Amino acid sequence: MGRRAKITVIGAGNVGATCAHWAAAKELGDIVLVDIVEGLPQGKALDLREAAPIERFDCDIIGTNHYEETAGSDVIIITSGLARKPGMSRDDLVAKNTEIVKSVAQQAARYSPDAVMIVVSNPLDAMVYVAWKASGFPTHRVLGQAGVLDTARYRAFIAMELNCSIEDITALLLGGHGDDMVPLTSYTSVAGIPVTHLIGKARLDAIVDRARKGGGEIVSLLRTGSAYYAPAAASVQMAEAIIKDKRRILPCAAYCDKEYAIGGYFVGVPVMLGARGVEKVIEIPLTPEERAAFQVSIDHVKELVALTSRLMA
Ligand code: LAC
Repeated sequence: MGRRAKITVIGAGNVGATCAHWAAAKELGDIVLVDIVEGLPQGKALDLREAAPIERFDCDIIGTNHYEETAGSDVIIITSGLARKPGMSRDDLVAKNTEIVKSVAQQAARYSPDAVMIVVSNPLDAMVYVAWKASGFPTHRVLGQAGVLDTARYRAFIAMELNCSIEDITALLLGGHGDDMVPLTSYTSVAGIPVTHLIGKARLDAIVDRARKGGGEIVSLLRTGSAYYAPAAASVQMAEAIIKDKRRILPCAAYCDKEYAIGGYFVGVPVMLGARGVEKVIEIPLTPEERAAFQVSIDHVKELVALTSRLMA
């Protein structure tokens, strides 16, 4: 008899609670929802558990304000921190979220020393770096959720444009989770057909631009916070790849040193995701224009990491 996988979700706000919801719906394992606000994780966990007889999932779901209950988790999803308000960039969150992510990563790592950590808090690429430093985990067991969300937006917009199934669209994206991320049209296909055969350059450029600014588009609509359905679905898809050792190829913020000549930062690249976390970073050839755009994004991530490193010192 195998035991169920255990998933800890830190932060019981919209992203965290929705992660718990998707993970339960997929029956990925037992779920622990953690938050500092008393009653919030307990209430959301109990509410979700009461949906189980209807939606038919057998998982234990508990909410807590303490880390003891998270012990022995296989996957830890960190969603804690402030979200953007209209007019803010993800970078405006850096000071407060560095402090929060550092603290939660340290505590979670102590109770689940063998877990794989998925960071969702913003500014994403810098927060993955903070969680890595704070956890003391090896690089392959810390990664960031960004590319799965960003390519999901990009794929959704392509499906909307072509009025075709989202199931047939595959895409890849590089770089940090900011407006300078690099959706790769050369690695985007519709049932194997290069997207450039189906959508003209001007329309495709507009779709790429919308995908890059997709997070901001939701913030300006919601006004009181940022996106959560798609960010949570993306995080849970990564957790599923790890828990089921699927070895999926997904764009994630992963540690790259020699890879792409990054030199020791977490940035969005295609990775193979399995039980060990990042099984490998996959390097793909890039055109000079793609490489230049990737470099702009990398340089931005490096600046943010320099800032968080000063804040952590
Ligand atoms: C977004 C935020 C969560 O892209 O970064 O929606």
